[in-house]
Amino acid sequence: MSAEPVATAPAKGPRHVALIMDGNGRWAQRRGLPRAVGHREGVQALRRTIKAAPELGVQCLTVFGFSTENWSRPADEVSDLMGLVRAFVGSDLNRLEAAGVRVKVLGRRTGLPEDIAAIVARAEAQTAHNDKFLLQVAFNYGGRADLADAAQLLVDRARAGEDFIVDEEALGAGLSTAGAPPVDLIVRTSGEQRLSNFLLWEAAYAEMVFQEILWPDYGPEALAEAIAQFACRQRRYGGREVIDTAYGEAAV
Ligand code: FPP
Repeated sequence: MSAEPVATAPAKGPRHVALIMDGNGRWAQRRGLPRAVGHREGVQALRRTIKAAPELGVQCLTVFGFSTENWSRPADEVSDLMGLVRAFVGSDLNRLEAAGVRVKVLGRRTGLPEDIAAIVARAEAQTAHNDKFLLQVAFNYGGRADLADAAQLLVDRARAGEDFIVDEEALGAGLSTAGAPPVDLIVRTSGEQRLSNFLLWEAAYAEMVFQEILWPDYGPEALAEAIAQFACRQRRYGGREVIDTAYGEAAV
């Protein structure tokens, strides 16, 4: 990560930012280019954003790389996206490890091409000792599927005769995001305003920022602007008092 800060972190910044990286296709279309070029530029934007996040006080970034619904795209586009993951891990994993980044991949491993499943396992194992920054990549991920899998874990425990209760803590512990700090801010680019099955449970008290910028144009300035919007929000968690969860204080 660069030594030169690109922007100043506001006093009330989010600890955990989740990004729906939308608009790669439109970015390419507007330039008369193939969608694959938009996705490739999207990876560059992801690199810029990962670098900027800790400089803006963010400790955890979760990005939506490929959803359980993205399998319905044409085979060549699916193949392009898989290829980008291979290339990204191949070119960036050592640098991320050296920068103290822990990589976690959210989502189902079943259904992934074998080599991608192996790449995912390698990225997680190689960075498991890091604790400076957490990068969660949602890949073959769907919020509903993740909740269903967490419920299945509880059913398995019941079948095994274990003593347990079904409550928010137990269900949350079975989600692929268990252990990460609470999501403070969800950003979606490209002007669309929906969650599209991303972090359904975790979004409960997250602030949302929707930005017009298309994902391939994203970077430090856009992230700083989203964080500035977050810093103006007042979070009450259903109560009357404003709760300051900036940089992890009093997060529930
Ligand atoms: C949405 O744009 C973006 C995606 C479906 C994929 C996001 C992937 C990347 C940024 C790169 C690969 C990721 C990793 C983790 C290396 P869209 O195609 O839906 O755009 P559109 O709505 O304009 O068509």
